[in-house]
Amino acid sequence: MNANAVVSVRDLHKTYGKAGEKQYEALKGITFDVQPGEFVGIMGASGSGKSTLLNILATLDQPTSGQVTIDQLDVTTLKGNQIADFRAKKVGFIFQDFNLLENLTNYENIALPLSLQNIAGTKIKTAVEKVAAQLTITETLSKYNGNFWGPKTTGGSSAGTRFKAGHPVW
Ligand SMILES: Nc1ncnc2c1ncn2[C@@H]1O[C@H](COP(=O)(O)OP(=O)(O)OP(=O)(O)O)[C@@H](O)[C@H]1O
Ligand SMILES: [Mg+2]
Repeated sequence: MNANAVVSVRDLHKTYGKAGEKQYEALKGITFDVQPGEFVGIMGASGSGKSTLLNILATLDQPTSGQVTIDQLDVTTLKGNQIADFRAKKVGFIFQDFNLLENLTNYENIALPLSLQNIAGTKIKTAVEKVAAQLTITETLSKYNGNFWGPKTTGGSSAGTRFKAGHPVW
C-alpha cells in the first residue's frame, strides 16, 4: 500500500450470486491508489462494474475478496456500528439531484453531518463558515434549498460542502 494514499484498493473481486447458483463476476481484481487532493473519475461501459466498485468504496456493499483501505483503515473488516460511524465521518455522497433537505437552511444542511457526530456548535460554525467561504457561498447560508443557487454557486459545490465540512482536511 502507498503510505500517503487516502484510498488504496488491492486485488478487489466481486462476484454476485451464491455458490451453486448463477454467478456473475463484476470485479475481477482491481488495484489502484488515490492520493490526497486527487479528483478521480471512473469511466466504463454500462455493466462494467462502476456502481459495484463505488458501493464497495462507500461501504454499502462487501467485496468477495480483496482489500479497500481508506484513510489508513481496512474498511472491509468493519462491522455493524463501526461501518455507520466510518461512513458518517469519512464518506460524502454528492447525488445528481443533491438530496439536500428542503426544510433546512443551507447552513443547517452543511452542518447536519457534523451535528450527528456531537461536535460542539461553535466548532461546527467555524467549519461551516470556512468551507462556505472557500466555495463563495457565504451569502446563501441562511437561505433554503430552493434559493440556494446564486450566480457563483454550482450544484456540485453545494452538495460538496457537506463532505468537506465533515472532513475539512481533504
Ligand atoms: N445485485 C446484483 N446481482 C447480480 N448481478 C448484478 C447485481 N448488481 C450488478 N450486477 C451485474 O454486475 C455487473 C456490473 O454492474 P454495475 O451496476 O456495477 O455496472 P455499471 O458499470 O455501474 O453500469 P451502468 O453504467 O449501467 O450504471 C452487471 O453485469 C450487472 O448486471
Ligand atoms: Mg452504475
